[in-house]
Amino acid sequence: MALVTTTEMFKKAYEGGYAVGAFNVNNMEIVQGITEACQELNSPVVLQVSKGARAYANHNYLVKMVEAAIMNCPDIPIALHLDHGPDFETCKACIDGGFSSVMIDGSSLPLEENIKMAKQVVEYAHAHGVVVEAELGTLAGVEDDVNVSAEDSSYTRPEDVQEFVEKTGCDSLAIAIGTSHGAYKFKPGTKPQLRFDILEDVAKRLPGFPIVLHGSSSVPQEFVKKINEHGGKMPDAIGIPEEMLREAAKMAVCKINIDSDIRLAITASIREYFDAHPDHFDPRQYLKPARQAVKDMVAHKIKNVLGSDGKA
Ligand code: G3H
Ligand code: 13P
Ligand code: ZN
Repeated sequence: MALVTTTEMFKKAYEGGYAVGAFNVNNMEIVQGITEACQELNSPVVLQVSKGARAYANHNYLVKMVEAAIMNCPDIPIALHLDHGPDFETCKACIDGGFSSVMIDGSSLPLEENIKMAKQVVEYAHAHGVVVEAELGTLAGVEDDVNVSAEDSSYTRPEDVQEFVEKTGCDSLAIAIGTSHGAYKFKPGTKPQLRFDILEDVAKRLPGFPIVLHGSSSVPQEFVKKINEHGGKMPDAIGIPEEMLREAAKMAVCKINIDSDIRLAITASIREYFDAHPDHFDPRQYLKPARQAVKDMVAHKIKNVLGSDGKA
């Protein structure tokens, strides 16, 4: 199957009460680990690339690696998406440069400016057959050069969503209901909570419209333990409980963003490997199990969290 937009994927996910995983890609092993799991489980997938990924790996390398994955996984729909596009220019570069979907992230701007920037991206994207995700509400956490403290984060206001979607023409909407970026999502000792009431309210106001959840890593404690046992230091790393994500996937959430869990899977695997084999120095030796760890983690998400297996 060729590169696709998310339109059909999200329609099926909404109707079927499941979500499509959107996994961040930064290198070949990550692309391979994710797509091999999706191919084996017959699952659709969004491969997403951040500004930081483009700076690290280079736009052309990332696009060509995704094209290679599409050749190797002929049975599943794959979308290539810009994650957290900061401005029109970055979105345009990705639209012109082979992406099928972009996110314009104006969530830190006042509502009118967010609408203005998103509308400009939507007009250009739609004229080129590309779909657009926009965001309302601010997540806490760290991405690239943006660091939003918990105090400065804000839940999405359901009363804004209809006007935002109508005025911008965006194809999907990321909302803030208590998820956050990174591996430290809740204060230690506090109970993880998501505002399902906001999600329900948004869904009522936008019937059938695909909602996106960012900051949805679960920070599996087996990875944290392994990292800490093998020289790492990640005390109090906590994620979103999987059952909450399953619940969201049954509702209007059609896309669930996962990056930190990929980083944790790789780091846990490599730390463990180096401890066991201090004399090894061929990157293929330690990147092979790291790639397998990504594949296993993604397969687990597809089967137990997203419910997208068999839905390609
Ligand atoms: O939401 C942010 C993603 O995890 C991407 O992270 O900006 O460090 O590539 P990054
Ligand atoms: P996590 O940090 O929870 O993996 O979130 C990733 C994300 O939202 C990418 O846009
Ligand atoms: Zn995000």
